[in-house]
Amino acid sequence: MSKVTVVGAGNVGATCAQYVAEKNIADVVLIDVVEGLPQGKSLDLMQAAPINYHDRKITGTNDYAATKDSDVIVITAGIARKPGMSRDDLLKTNANIVQSVVEQTIKHSPNAIYICVTNPLDVMTYLTWKTSKLPKNRVLGMAGVLDSARFQTFIGMETGCSVEDIRAMVLGGHGDLMVPLTRMATVNGIPISELLPQAKIDEMVVRTQNGGIEIVNFMKTSAFYAPGASAAQMVESVLFDKKRLLPCCVLAEGEYGLKDVYVGLPCIVGKNGVEKIVELKLEKEESAALKKSADAIRENIDVLNKLMVPA
Ligand code: LAC
Repeated sequence: MSKVTVVGAGNVGATCAQYVAEKNIADVVLIDVVEGLPQGKSLDLMQAAPINYHDRKITGTNDYAATKDSDVIVITAGIARKPGMSRDDLLKTNANIVQSVVEQTIKHSPNAIYICVTNPLDVMTYLTWKTSKLPKNRVLGMAGVLDSARFQTFIGMETGCSVEDIRAMVLGGHGDLMVPLTRMATVNGIPISELLPQAKIDEMVVRTQNGGIEIVNFMKTSAFYAPGASAAQMVESVLFDKKRLLPCCVLAEGEYGLKDVYVGLPCIVGKNGVEKIVELKLEKEESAALKKSADAIRENIDVLNKLMVPA
């Protein structure tokens, strides 16, 4: 029986726990520093189980001992964006939270695979890897799945086609410089350029890059349904060893000409976490955009390294 710990019982964490249980992927431990919050949300989710027909246990706790022997740890703990804030504005506060979460969880689950969701996503995933001292394949970050889902949603809206037939990937960091790969986006294998005018495609690229802030501006806080669903899909690919090809935040060590940076690249995700980074032949502009996005992450990794006392 697989066990998933979701750290952070806020909107993203609770939604991720919900999808993991309701899709019958694993039992879930939901943990948070706020007393009562994970206990209440877990009980509420358990009471939805007889309606949604699953027997997954969802346990709420403030005690890391309850996370013992987790197969996957999803980190969502941290503060969320408010209007006017970039994801990078969260760096210092969330770095302290993520470092402490990793130190607490790794003691109880030294063999877990970590999926980081906390923003600024790419930098926090790097910090998770550094703090855990795990091999790089066991630490990955979420956002490519989310950004790609947003791109796919907009393609669905514009073409009027079912999202079931839409495949599209977004590479790079989870920020304004992310790289939607329009050339490889298809509706059942048909390139979107056959179906939509270039101006429409350009618009969708910008809307995807601003996908998070569009929602922050509506709700005055961050999105959670699609982020929670994205993390759950990655958990599923790990625990069911599905070998899905998903864009995930991973440590680049020369792939795509990038080095020493956690950044969104296409990966095979299975029981060992990141089993392979898939290298595509990118066009010059695509490569340049990816490099620019990775450079921005590296700058923030430098900021982080100056801030943090090594664990
Ligand atoms: C977003 C936040 C979760 O993109 O980063 O909605």
